[in-house]
Formats: sequence, structure tokens, C-alpha cells
Amino acid sequence: MTNRIPDPARFPARFTWGVATSSYQIEGAPREDGKGPSIWDTFCRTPGKVRGGDTGDVACDHYHRLDSDLDMIRDLGVNAYRFSISWPRILPHGRGAVNQAGLDFYQRLVDGLLTRGITPWATLYHWDLPQTLEDEGGWTVRGTAEAFGTYSAVVAAALGDRVKHFITLNEPWCSAYLGYGIGIHAPGRHDLRASFAATHHLLVGHGRAMQAIRGQAPGAQAGITLNLHHTYPATDTPADRAAAYRMDGFQNRWYLDPVYGRGYPQDMVDLLGDLSPQAQGLVLPGDTELMGQPTDFLGVNMYSRAVGQDAPGEGFLHARQIRPEGSAYTGFDWEVAPDSLTDLLVRLQEDYAPDAIYITENGSTYPDVADEDGNVNDLERTQYLTEHLAATQEALARGAKVAGYFAWSLMDNFEWAEGYDKRFGIVHVDFGTQVRTPKLSGRTYRDFLARAGQAVGA
Ligand code: FCB
Repeated sequence: MTNRIPDPARFPARFTWGVATSSYQIEGAPREDGKGPSIWDTFCRTPGKVRGGDTGDVACDHYHRLDSDLDMIRDLGVNAYRFSISWPRILPHGRGAVNQAGLDFYQRLVDGLLTRGITPWATLYHWDLPQTLEDEGGWTVRGTAEAFGTYSAVVAAALGDRVKHFITLNEPWCSAYLGYGIGIHAPGRHDLRASFAATHHLLVGHGRAMQAIRGQAPGAQAGITLNLHHTYPATDTPADRAAAYRMDGFQNRWYLDPVYGRGYPQDMVDLLGDLSPQAQGLVLPGDTELMGQPTDFLGVNMYSRAVGQDAPGEGFLHARQIRPEGSAYTGFDWEVAPDSLTDLLVRLQEDYAPDAIYITENGSTYPDVADEDGNVNDLERTQYLTEHLAATQEALARGAKVAGYFAWSLMDNFEWAEGYDKRFGIVHVDFGTQVRTPKLSGRTYRDFLARAGQAVGA
């Protein structure tokens, strides 16, 4: 990378600048106003699943602090906010009667954003599947994809007059692999066959949701968010290059190819053998078209890169991710690799030609230390943020159609299996008092956005 200091003037005038959260990670209020249980409510109650026995029962108490949180978002100077809608608040059992009180919460959220001049970006599924649907097989059965289409139509019909940006799924790789394959996320299953069944039904569900949004909210832009890692070979040997390509197949192409209408990558179908959705008899005529419904943008969640080494006999990929020496790592032991963001964005543009790319998440966790007043001088997160903004700028200069950036996350929150131990916020949350205090990274982002606004004369 040539320059690691981003220049606000070098971003397009209409660039989307946001912060992101998700429902289960911030809302709390798990049983309020008719909400049904989700798989994360269940998972958190299963001993040994979440660090320290933490749950999202209170989280950031956002459900009860909506107005002050919206003021806080406005004060950061962003022009967009990405949040997710809790499916079991809208349909407590996944399908059937609509819970109006649940919809009302998101109506107030959307109206509150619009009043403050902030564009709402609604994710329809950020992992809190209604427990009733999991009891029927969850994402391993096709019925869940159909139910997701119906739920998406309900939300698009209710909010589509004001929400002009919908994301169908957040990171289906995580739902399928972490949730059904290796069990570290809800619903906690350990079954690789089930996880590849889940990938297929998630992608079918994405197609159904796209159709629902097109039908109910024809003026809205819609797409999917994938967690993508640019993948590099550990050495330049053919064996390591092939291993890196298999890792790219598992993490990236398995989702990108179907979403862009190409169906599943054949090299991966061959490699997976009995595990593949095809071998399981799950791919129906018309599914390639359904999964490949045209989208308006690609959402990219990027945190790190992957470096792959050939490892014959290891797992189904016969590849291993190595931990390069000499790199910086975040508190999750994820390598800090901003140049890989540039490479990723340029590659996506070249290989898939999306109309627009939005970085829907990017951020870092570090063991923050807050002083008595809640101030956090998070130099490492601030550096991570600025380096990734610079990497985004570089990708723009190289022709990637990047149209927006959302920092993960607005504020510290419930970090899934890690509970409250891992903080990603650019705003610090004292979970005892619920006091929010912008960190150095949050203030840096705010100052950068103020300069970006001046640069375009806004
Ligand atoms: C992503 C998730 C998000 C958050 C970050 C750290 O995989 O989408 O909810 O947990 O990681």
C-alpha cells in the first residue's frame, strides 16, 4: 500500500458512511412485547457454550434506549446505520401471525433515523433464527428458506416505504459452518453434512428474500452480506497455491458464485463429495436461478485475510490456515491485513462485477482499558480503522466500485460465543451502568467524517 493515511477528499461525494450492529448483540429484551425465543436465547442457556455464561438478555439494553442511541449515532456524523431485524420479534414462531409490537419497534427505529437524517440499512437475518424453526430442522431443511421468504415479505411490506436498503443474510458461512458444522455458534450442531445442507437453504432463502423485496418494496436496493477473506498461498509452490484456492472455494466462491448466478463452483462440489448439497439431493431444478436473483450491491464483511498451506489428509479441504509471523494481530488473534482488503475489493470487482460494493462490517477487538470516566484511548483500533479506510481508498483508485463503509461496531456488544469479553465498539459501553463513551477510534471516525462532509461541501 502506498499511503496508510486516508484522505476524505478522495472518496466519492455520495459515499455511504455508517456504523453497524445486530439485533441480538445489542437489543436485550428477549421476551418483551411478544417476542419469541431465538436459537441464540437457547444457545446462551446451554451450559458451556458462551464464555462466562453470558447471554444477550440485557446486552446494550438498546430496546429501552432507542432514542438516546439514535442521538449517539447522529452525533458520530455518519449518514447511514446498519441494524438487523429480529425475526422472532416479528414472527414469534417463525411463521404465522405477525406480532405488531415487534414491527412497531423497528418502525420507531426507522422513523427515528430518518428524522435525524440517517439512512436506514436493514439486515433481515443476523443469526437469531426463531427457535420453533430450529425445532423443525432449522437451516438444514428447505422449509426454513421458504419461511424466510415469507418473513422478508412482511418486513419489506411494512418498512419498504422508508427503508431503501435491505440486506438479506449476514454471513451465511458463519450460520452454516460455525452453527451447524463445528457447533461454536447457535444452534451448536457438529455435523458437516448438515452444514452444507444449511449453506444451500440459506442461499435459497436469500433468493426467496430477494423476490419478496422486489415484490413488496420495488424501489429498494437489496443484496447480501458475505464474510470474505482474501486468500494467499503460504509459499509459491503449486501445492500451496492449490490449497489456497480450495480455502477460497470454501470461504468465498461457495457463496459468491451462486449469488452471481453461476451455481456452485464445480471444483468444490467434486472435493466435497458426499457432503455436497448435490450429493444430498437438495438442489432442485431452478435453484441456480433462485440463488442468483440479481442484486443491487454486494455487502462485504472483512476483518482479516487467510494464508493457506497444503495439508494432505487434513479436514475436507486438505489445507491449513497458517499464522504468519511478524504480523500484528487483534485480540481475536486475527491478523491485521489492510492490504488484503484492497486485494479483496479489486478481485471482487474483476471476478464478479458488482454494481456496487459496500463494506458492511470492518473492525477490531482489543483488550480496552477504560479510565474512571469511561474514556478509552484505543490506539490500535484507531490505527486499524484508518489503515482500512486507506485500503478502501486504494481499492477505489484501482477501480473497485466501493460505495460505502460501515464500521463494526457502533458500540461494544454481545460478541456471540465470546460474550462480553471481546469489545469491537468505537463507542465504549460500561455494561454495569450502560453509559456509552466514544473511544479515540469513534472520535477519529467522527473527525474524519466531518472532513469528508466538508470535502464534498455537505
Ligand atoms: C462478524 C459478525 C458480527 C460480529 C463481528 C465481529 O462475523 O457479523 O456480528 O460478531 O463478526
